[in-house]
Amino acid sequence: MDSDFISQARALVAQMTLEEKALLLSGDGWWKTHRIDRLNVPSVMMTDGPHGVRKVEGAALAASVPATCFPTASALASAWNTDLIREVGMALAEECQANDVQILLGPGVNMKRSPLGGRNFEYFSEDPVLAGKLAAAYIQGVQSQGVGTSLKHYAANNQEFERMAASSNVDERTMHEIYLPAFELAVKEAQPWSVMAAYNPVNGVYATENEWLLQGILRARWGFQGLVVSDWGAIHDRIEAVNAGCNLEMPGSGEFHRDQIIQAARTGRIPPATLDEVVVPLLAVILKAKALHRPDVAFNPEGHDALARRAAGESVVLLKNDGALLPLDPAALKSVALIGAFAKTPRYQGAGSSQVNPTRISTAYEELLKLMGKDTVVRYAAGYAEEGETTSELLDEARQQAKEAEVAVVFAGLPDSYESEGFDRASLELPPGHNELIEAVAAVQPNTVVVLMNGSAVTMPWAGKVGAIIEAWLGGQAGGGAVADALAGRVNPSGKLAETFPARLEDTPAYPDFPARDKNALYGERCFIGYRHYDARKVAPLFPFGFGLSYTTFAYSDLRVSASSIRDTEGVTVELEVKNTGQRAGKEVVQLYVREQHPKVARPEKELKAFTKVALEPGEEKTVRFRLEKRDFACYDLSIHDWAVNSGTFELLAGGSSRDLPLRQMINVEATGRVYPPLTRDSLLKEFAAHPKGKAHYATLANAFGMGNSDEEATADTPDLTPEEAAAKKKAARAVKAFLDDMPAYKVSAFSEGRFTPRMLDDILRQAQ
Ligand code: BGC
Repeated sequence: MDSDFISQARALVAQMTLEEKALLLSGDGWWKTHRIDRLNVPSVMMTDGPHGVRKVEGAALAASVPATCFPTASALASAWNTDLIREVGMALAEECQANDVQILLGPGVNMKRSPLGGRNFEYFSEDPVLAGKLAAAYIQGVQSQGVGTSLKHYAANNQEFERMAASSNVDERTMHEIYLPAFELAVKEAQPWSVMAAYNPVNGVYATENEWLLQGILRARWGFQGLVVSDWGAIHDRIEAVNAGCNLEMPGSGEFHRDQIIQAARTGRIPPATLDEVVVPLLAVILKAKALHRPDVAFNPEGHDALARRAAGESVVLLKNDGALLPLDPAALKSVALIGAFAKTPRYQGAGSSQVNPTRISTAYEELLKLMGKDTVVRYAAGYAEEGETTSELLDEARQQAKEAEVAVVFAGLPDSYESEGFDRASLELPPGHNELIEAVAAVQPNTVVVLMNGSAVTMPWAGKVGAIIEAWLGGQAGGGAVADALAGRVNPSGKLAETFPARLEDTPAYPDFPARDKNALYGERCFIGYRHYDARKVAPLFPFGFGLSYTTFAYSDLRVSASSIRDTEGVTVELEVKNTGQRAGKEVVQLYVREQHPKVARPEKELKAFTKVALEPGEEKTVRFRLEKRDFACYDLSIHDWAVNSGTFELLAGGSSRDLPLRQMINVEATGRVYPPLTRDSLLKEFAAHPKGKAHYATLANAFGMGNSDEEATADTPDLTPEEAAAKKKAARAVKAFLDDMPAYKVSAFSEGRFTPRMLDDILRQAQ
């Protein structure tokens, strides 16, 4: 937040009465902040978000103004393209300016802990780096046009069931390694004007009153300067929330909480300085929003529709394409059967608060008609009814149309009733009617293509029976056009999965514990969610994280790392070549993962650290460059409650999917400036050995047992041993060392029968401070 808005806000707060401060801390109805005419404090308007402007006029749930419906987050994430998301963000902001909206409620960066999560369509990924980088680009795009964002839902908001009550119980390390970093990246790289505190408690304390989250992490560690707004109705105890730093309650609660705040301020339950500190960032954002409002902006719906189509096209993931069945060749194709009602009435966005009133809707059916050759016969059969149920008549008709065409394209996916804000999905399956339809068509038509419209991972029991599969996601209002573009080869698919597609629900990380039904969600799988889980447990997914095909092919070569050994403060540059080895122009998502060779704690087999999208003409080769810094090698260390690198070897792995990483190289990283927790009586002997000040005392402690504890000592005074005897002695010494190393120092006294006294240990501890 710019310092002049903060100082203006401070000056205003100094003039405000207690009643005015309390008034400002709660909204004016559903979407606005209160104005204070006496001090010329204007009101600002917020609307959802994230993939389009949902400005509701009148009643809370009334229809919203027409706005461009862009692809939802799970689609956009599959493009792995920060420039594209920035561009979408700029267009969204233009529509906000045109509608006098000052803050757009998004993006959502919660981790997809389970593919059943009801709002997964509204979130980017199962990986914090991917989600965080995309969120930062979105925020930069929107905010570059003078409109604010609200990064949500902070934090660990991963299930819809009992969403206002279920506590997300997450251990400290998992919180820092999985559930916080996407927020952290977005805050540090893009400074959103606001962060939305989630409905759920985190480890028993409501997110809206969680001082650790709102002050300790968000403001103190990450330097957040904007305002914290409650999710709509997420306030539990307004006094606690004010004291924890939750600036704005939405929607407004009228006098209900206002009076409580006034009383609490009068009795000292809210200290005067705390109250002011909560009002200042809120006021600063209001002042900034009004200063940057541009009343003259109008947006061009056609231009934005074209951008929505381009974005949806880049989000399409080609999952299977046997025998190059796709793209269809409109000039040569005699007939095609389009089957499934989604071809004409697509599912293109998620249900709930993010639902946009689109400026128009394109359907794959109409758009394909436009793209097919004039002699191509286009057949159609609905195949299923609205909720996905099918009948023998519908199936017969579909079979008939499919049989008579050269190629059949089946449109399937999840109806609204299967996937929405407010509830979690009951299963990973498509509606039974959709599966039956695909099986029926595939049985009569060898050239069957399946196009999926869904907001999150689904199972595909028929995957082996069809020729090609396109994951088109909830592609927004122009999604139909984008599907037509991909089928007809006007767009070469370049999306990659931002979430793993499991083979079955039983294989998923949080199974069978999702959603938690007793208001306590225990995150027992810890940091092993998404590909981290499938990697560690050697579970084969249906389609892995980062996977996606293209109509062309790419080759990777020549991984170059700027140094083979670095200190963690130095960072390292990684370069590689990627070449388009096929016949069509295409784009490739290059992914870089890091693996610690010998971690001291259980760590994922590898973790995504960087990615980029490269456009390549046929035969073209480009150099890709990444930079890795200390944090990319670190893990969260519970002994110091901070990130730390362990000295050792790390493997860098690069390629086009989490399961296809042809380029690999080792690098040695030396930890510097490591903070060591103080040694105590309870410290293990190996902790003495690893501690700069404890090292010198290790031998004293170990020798107190009178047993040799290294290979050299074991054989030092018996030089005449046969090789077998020496090997046996060394083996025994290693066993002793393992035994000693894991022993707390205080136990040495008893084991040495008192020769090593507690006082001797106290002396050592004093010297080692
Ligand atoms: C949702 C938020 C949304 C808000 C306002 C809440 O129910 O969780 O994501 O921004 O409503 O519509």
